[in-house]
Amino acid sequence: MMLDHVATALREALVRVEAASSTAELRAAETELLGKRGPFAQFKAQLGALASPADKRDGGRALNEATQRVSAALAARRADLAAAERAIQLEAERLDLTEVRIAPRRGHAHIVTQAWERLEDVFIGLGFQVAEGPEVETDWYNFEALNTPPNHPARSEHDTFYLDYGTPGSTLLRTHTSPVQIRVMQTLTPPIYMVMPGRVFRNETADATHLAVFHQIEGLVVDRGITLAHLAGTIEAFTKAFFGDGFTSRLRPSYFPFTEPSGEFDIRTPRGDWLEIGGCGMVHPNVIRAGGLDPEEWSGFAFGFGIDRMAKERHGVGDVREMYSNDLRFLEQF
Ligand code: DAH
Repeated sequence: MMLDHVATALREALVRVEAASSTAELRAAETELLGKRGPFAQFKAQLGALASPADKRDGGRALNEATQRVSAALAARRADLAAAERAIQLEAERLDLTEVRIAPRRGHAHIVTQAWERLEDVFIGLGFQVAEGPEVETDWYNFEALNTPPNHPARSEHDTFYLDYGTPGSTLLRTHTSPVQIRVMQTLTPPIYMVMPGRVFRNETADATHLAVFHQIEGLVVDRGITLAHLAGTIEAFTKAFFGDGFTSRLRPSYFPFTEPSGEFDIRTPRGDWLEIGGCGMVHPNVIRAGGLDPEEWSGFAFGFGIDRMAKERHGVGDVREMYSNDLRFLEQF
């Protein structure tokens, strides 16, 4: 009789365990089934009242077996439910990082860098190579080798920043990119077709058209039989390549210690305005010599102009200081 009750209770218990749909429900079922008030505990209490020892033994064995099977079913169900719940939780907490749009905003090169790089591109297209020299120079490279000895009046136009290094006045921040001409001639054997962009420094108060730190690009050609016609042709080819077909150039006589004759070149816009761009000329024999070359064998032309100025004109910037104010509202326009 008792064995039938135990078997029925076991069947019901197993159904109950399988029916639990969460670990919380399962915990409740466990307390109900195996707890002190559960059916099996009650049967156990009744065992003592049984008359026959054989019934007691069989009943005890059936009860033990039943509670073990319920325990095993609970453990198995608990493992299944926990795995399912964990999967649900993981899915809920999943972060799809490919969906979160936190791509950084894309910036761009500064307009002076853009002009610098375009100038290099255009000159490379005309057959030039690119070289760079040091920003800290000696007086010799910056002036003397460029046919500008001490006390030369042209020096007063370069308000030079001198460094507190070596003999006073011997070390400075280069005032132009022209000293790189000397370094290039000392390093290479002609033919030389080179442009030399870089940063230059002058001890001046900044205004709408001047900065104490700015950029120039220098050009140097040294070859056999170079004439002023080559210079004019190169300036014209550069003008068309950089500004466009509607632009032309002209040379005006001028003076620089390192070129003879010297000129300044202007560019005519399609509207007919003339823009003063830079200086140029035939490399002075003293400069060729300072570069370690024989001016009887080699001749050349040189030019130099401001890069910031090109960016300013190209983008119609009214005041060069704006280009270095680091104001994003300005910079983001280009
Ligand atoms: N170095 C001159 C300056 O800074 C510019 C210049 C003029 C460079 C004539 C040249 C040149 O190479 O031939 O004002």
